[in-house]
Amino acid sequence: MPVAKAVRADLERASWIRRMFEEGRRLREADPSLPVYDFSLGNPDLEPPEALLRALRELVADTAKGTHAYMPNVGYRETREAIARKVSREHAFPVAFSDVVMTVGAAGGLNVLLHAILDSGDEVVVVRPWFAEYRFYINKHGGRMVEAGTGPGFALDVDAIRRALGPRTKALILNSPNNPTGRIYPRSDVEALSAVLLAHGEATGTSPLLIVDEPYRDLAYEGAVVPPVMDAYPETVVCSSFSKSLSVPGERIGYLAVSSRCADKSLLMDALAMGMRTLGFVNAPALMQRAVARVADEKADIASYARRRALLLEAVRSAGLAFAPPEGAFYLFCEVPPRGPKGRAADAARAAASGAATGGAAAAESPDVAFAMFLKDYRILLVPGSGFGMPGWARLSYAVDEALIRGVAPELKAALGKWRE
Ligand SMILES: Cc1ncc(COP(=O)(O)O)c(C=O)c1O
Repeated sequence: MPVAKAVRADLERASWIRRMFEEGRRLREADPSLPVYDFSLGNPDLEPPEALLRALRELVADTAKGTHAYMPNVGYRETREAIARKVSREHAFPVAFSDVVMTVGAAGGLNVLLHAILDSGDEVVVVRPWFAEYRFYINKHGGRMVEAGTGPGFALDVDAIRRALGPRTKALILNSPNNPTGRIYPRSDVEALSAVLLAHGEATGTSPLLIVDEPYRDLAYEGAVVPPVMDAYPETVVCSSFSKSLSVPGERIGYLAVSSRCADKSLLMDALAMGMRTLGFVNAPALMQRAVARVADEKADIASYARRRALLLEAVRSAGLAFAPPEGAFYLFCEVPPRGPKGRAADAARAAASGAATGGAAAAESPDVAFAMFLKDYRILLVPGSGFGMPGWARLSYAVDEALIRGVAPELKAALGKWRE
């Protein structure tokens, strides 16, 4: 069966992610007795809170008629009420249950929303580095991703965002705490961004939608606070999930909350319900909707991420790697250090050999991809920054065993010594 050209292009673009995954599998199979220091996956690994597990046990035992039936596409009212209370508190802005759509994770929510708003050729501004899936989602719904650069330490650069806005801009995605940098954008940035979007709206007659993608909102460390956004800008939709806060990414439960100040809000709500149908989700999983209605404000024990964050920071610091200050989520974004002269010569020879082997010109490997491939030989896996639009950087996830972080410290130091030779 021939696969669509667009999907083939997606597969090509995502190939390095598959490559890291395959490398991990190969390393584990080659010698199961040796550890693989795999920091490539952002997979929450905490136990869900006991209150959620208890709620699930009780709900599974419920045999009331209609428990497993279809429901409105936007979800159960009791669940939407619980989400409305949560988002109202977090965003210092009143949200009604009728402003909420329950979705299949934040990923499902983003797709339903982009599907609802994008006409072919519409633009969505994202801040670089960006979550790797954004480009796939935006393209899938006929849009075009436009990048805005960031300032030192990946701070929001509102002027860069202003320059990225144009007559076709339909939305901007703000992801805080950020994947991959761990940055949390402070309230002053939110206000500056709001002013830029409002000015753009006044000048062009159409205000871009601000999509606040915040599945990591509860993962903030050392007293860092994720500020409200919905109160700052009228055209705001919050997209989030319980994948991280309750540590249940496999259960696929998330939501969209639409500001009551959005123009044409009721038409947008209809479009979101329609998207749930036509994209084939129909509704978010019923059992999880019932469960989160009871425990929406519970949190997994993030102290364990905080401990692992501190350990990884120490390991990376002592290896001499520079990194962006990670205030939230569970990622560390590191700058790839310069390659030493010996290594540069070896890399050039390898690239020439692979060019000769494929009968083509030697492909210029970006430094982060070369770095990831080099570390793989030390059984250390991380994700090259190219996948987030940021060559020269690399992402490590600390949602991994503490023992692995302790173990990698000397290995990383040794590997970096060789890299710099
Ligand atoms: C920035 C960002 N947005 C959205 C998602 C999707 O999360 P979910 O599991 O809720 O679909 C992720 C998942 O890793 C993410 O990192």
